[in-house]
Amino acid sequence: MCKKFGEQVVLDHFDLDIEPARTTVIMGPSGCGKSVTLKHIVGLLKPDAGTVTFDGRRTDMLGERELIPVRLQIGLLFQMSALFDSMTIGENIEFPLLEHTRLTRPERSMQVREALRLVDMDGVEAKLPSQLSGGQRKRVALARAIVLRPRVVLYDEPTTGLDPVRSDGINELIIKLKRTLGMTNVVVTHDIVSARKIADRVVMMLGGRIVASGTFDQIASCRDRRVVNFLEGRYDREEDDEQKLIESTPGLPGVGRAAQ
Ligand SMILES: Nc1ncnc2c1ncn2[C@@H]1O[C@H](COP(=O)(O)OP(=O)(O)OP(=O)(O)O)[C@@H](O)[C@H]1O
Ligand SMILES: [Mg+2]
Repeated sequence: MCKKFGEQVVLDHFDLDIEPARTTVIMGPSGCGKSVTLKHIVGLLKPDAGTVTFDGRRTDMLGERELIPVRLQIGLLFQMSALFDSMTIGENIEFPLLEHTRLTRPERSMQVREALRLVDMDGVEAKLPSQLSGGQRKRVALARAIVLRPRVVLYDEPTTGLDPVRSDGINELIIKLKRTLGMTNVVVTHDIVSARKIADRVVMMLGGRIVASGTFDQIASCRDRRVVNFLEGRYDREEDDEQKLIESTPGLPGVGRAAQ
């Protein structure tokens, strides 16, 4: 796929195959196009050139109505949990069931309970999102993403902002969904600990394309300086200048990125 926003090239002959029932982790610096990639998978964005296929069927040409059956097979965990603040947790998770199924009320309650059980959040149906911690909200958002039992789950930075223990809880969930339900996971993350733990395959994105792909260990032993710097969290002024990644105050390199 190729994708530009105005003059800005975001995806530049980006090419990725996602293996079913596996966990693919997409890593790369802020602004490199990871969220944009996920949005192409669900048809929220369309490529300027190239194709998106799901189950061997082209989806980038489909309209909103035709996309519904495709989207029903894909659960999406947004970068921000994006729960509806005025609805209880139970209502939040029930929402996709009301929209897309003809289940009766007791059947819906059962599905909601089951989804909460899967994410180890039993019994919080009556609470409001504001009454939960950040980590708990992520779990609930994940319950909502999987309540329709999608075959694929896309996670946009599922562990960002969580402490190491809560992050690990999310990692365990991602692994569990693959193992027990055979889900295909696509995880965008900056979290190297998480990538190491959950990834069957890591792809490293830079400059709108994939520059390295393999198991975590293969990526970690990659000799590309940009990949090494990213994994080691090392700031490389020269590299940043090359890629024009800094939009922040001159003299304070990195501040703008850290703030995102
Ligand atoms: N709808 C849009 N209109 C214009 N520009 C956009 C749009 N969506 C994304 N962009 C631009 O595309 C680039 C890639 O954005 P994207 O959100 O994919 O980054 P990312 O890799 O997910 O970064 P982060 O790690 O910070 O979430 C950014 O420069 C962003 O400003
Ligand atoms: Mg993003």
